[in-house]
Amino acid sequence: MVRLLVYVALVSSLLCLVQGQINCYVCSDINFFGSAIDDYCYNNLTGRVATSCTGSCRMTFETEDGVIRSIERDCNSGSAQSLKCYSFVPSGNTIHHTQCEISCNTTGCNNMLANDLQACASSCGSTGGGFCNYYTGTCVCNAGYTGADCETVIAVTPTQSCIQCDEATEPGCASVTSTLCSSSSHNLCTASRTTLYDANGAAVRTTVTRGCIESFAVTNDECTFSTPADTSLAGFLEYTCTRTCKANGCNSFTPQGDAPGPMYCHMCTGTSDTSTCAQSPNTRTRCPSDQRYCYSRAIYRSSTAQSEITHNEIQGYQFVSIDRGCSSTAMASQCTNTTFPSSNGQLTTCQETCQTHGCNDGWPNRPKCIQCISDESSVAAGADDCLYNPLAARQCPLPYHQYCYYTDMGKSGQLNSQISENRGGYRRSMVRLCSVNSYGSTCTEFQNGGVTFQRCNKTCDTDGCNHGMGGGSFRPGTSFMTLFITGLLTYTTQYIFSH
Ligand SMILES: *[C@@H]1O[C@H](CO)[C@@H](O)[C@H](O)[C@H]1NC(C)=O
Ligand SMILES: *[C@@H]1O[C@H](CO)[C@@H](O)[C@H](O)[C@H]1NC(C)=O
Ligand SMILES: *[C@@H]1O[C@H](CO)[C@@H](O)[C@H](O)[C@H]1NC(C)=O
Ligand SMILES: *[C@@H]1O[C@H](CO)[C@@H](O)[C@H](O)[C@H]1NC(C)=O
Repeated sequence: MVRLLVYVALVSSLLCLVQGQINCYVCSDINFFGSAIDDYCYNNLTGRVATSCTGSCRMTFETEDGVIRSIERDCNSGSAQSLKCYSFVPSGNTIHHTQCEISCNTTGCNNMLANDLQACASSCGSTGGGFCNYYTGTCVCNAGYTGADCETVIAVTPTQSCIQCDEATEPGCASVTSTLCSSSSHNLCTASRTTLYDANGAAVRTTVTRGCIESFAVTNDECTFSTPADTSLAGFLEYTCTRTCKANGCNSFTPQGDAPGPMYCHMCTGTSDTSTCAQSPNTRTRCPSDQRYCYSRAIYRSSTAQSEITHNEIQGYQFVSIDRGCSSTAMASQCTNTTFPSSNGQLTTCQETCQTHGCNDGWPNRPKCIQCISDESSVAAGADDCLYNPLAARQCPLPYHQYCYYTDMGKSGQLNSQISENRGGYRRSMVRLCSVNSYGSTCTEFQNGGVTFQRCNKTCDTDGCNHGMGGGSFRPGTSFMTLFITGLLTYTTQYIFSH
C-alpha cells in the first residue's frame, strides 16, 4: 500500500513536470497593518501550503513612499522569470507610489517576505529613468538613463545631417554643405518654398528654407495655403510647398508641388477567412510617400497529404491571418510552405505586392475567378448570364483556391453561344468556379440515349481566365476578343485532335 502511494506520488510529480506545473503561494492582503498574525501574506508563510499552478509564480506589491501597502501572491501564465516595477506620483499628491510584479519559475519561489524586501536609496528616476529592484535594493535604469539613481540622461549624438539654410539670408542655399542636425530626434531633412501674396493677389516674394525635422514618415512635395502669422500682413496669403527626405544631405531640391501623390492601400488585419479584412476590405488609407506598393499576406495551416480531396477542400485546413498595408519594396508574388517538425502539417504563407490604389484586396498570389452556375431553363431561353454574359471575376472563397475553371457540357459540336442550338431539347450546362485542383483543359465525349454529348473543361490561374465556352466559340464584341483568339486556337486544336 505504501509502495503504491509512493508510486502514485512519483507518477503525479512526473506528470507535473511534464505539464509545467509548480506550486506557488496564493494569498493577498491589500491592507497591511504590520502584524504578522493578521497579515500572514506579508511576513509569515510558515505552515501555509503552496498550491499547484501552471506556468510560473507571481508576487505583486505596491509601496507608498517605500512602505509596503498591499501584497498579492498567485499563479501566473507563461514560464519565464521577470521583474517589472512602475513608479509614479499621482497628480496633486506628493506620495511616491511604486507597483512591482515579480514572476519566478521554481516551486514556492513567490515566498519573499515583505520584511526582506529592500527599498532603494533613491526614487530611481521616477520620472521615467528607472525603477527599484526590491530584491536587491538597487535601481534598474530604463534605456537612455544611467547612474545609481537613474537620473543621468545618456547623451545621444545626432546622426542625421541636412542642408540647413535660408535662401533669404544665404543666396545659393541649395549648394550649402550639409551639417549634423542639432537633435538626435531629427530623422529627416526638409525643404520648403513659400510664396507670399498681397491682398490683390500679386506675388510679393518667394523664400526657400532647408533644415532638419522629426517626423514619422517622409512626405512628398505637398502644398498648403495659410494666413501669415505676422499681423502686419493682414489680407495677405502664403502658399507653402514642403517635401522631406531621409538620406543625409538629400534636401537640395526646391519643392514645386508637382511630385506624384501618395499611394492609397487597404490597411487591415484579420484572423478569420470570413473577416471583413479577408473578404471585403474597405480600408483604403494614405501611405507614407516613400511606400509606393500595396501588399497583402495570408497565412494558413494544412496537411501535406492531399490525396482523395473531396468537395474542393484541403485536409487539415486552418486559417491563421490576413494582413494588408503599404510597403516601400516590391515582394515576389508567391506562396511558400514550411513543414511542421515531426508531422505532415504545413504552414503556407502567400504574399503579393501591387502598384495601383487599393489593389491589395483579394487573396495574395491567387486568381480572381468568374463564379456562377447556369440555369437550364434560362440557357434554353438564351438569357443565362453564366453561359452568355457572366459577371466579372471576384475573389475566391478560400486562400488556397489556386485555379479558376469552367466545365461546359452539352451536345457534341454545339458548345457555343448559338441560342438555337441550345433550344434543341438537349441539356446544356455551364459551371464557372474556383478550385484547389486542376481539372485540366480537355474535352471528353459520352453517349446518352443515342446522342453524343461533350464535356469540356478549362483550368487556368489568372484573373477572370475562366470566361468563354467549351466548344471554342465566343461572344463577339467583347473586349476579350483579341486575348481570346489564342485561347480559341488552342481549343479548336484540342477539339480537332480529340476526334
Ligand atoms: C507564523 O504563523 C504560524 C502558523 O500560523 C504561527 O504558528 C507562528 O506563530 C507565526 N510566527 C510568528 C513569528 O508570528
Ligand atoms: C525559468 O525562467 C528562465 C528565465 O526566464 C528560463 O530561462 C527558464 O527556462 C525557466 N525555467 C522553466 C522551467 O521554465
Ligand atoms: C505547398 O503545398 C501544397 C499542398 O501540399 C502544394 O500543392 C504546393 O505545390 C506547395 N507549394 C510549394 C511552393 O511547394
Ligand atoms: C472536368 O471537370 C469536372 C469538375 O467540374 C471533373 O469532375 C472532371 O473529372 C473533369 N474532366 C476531366 C476530363 O478532367
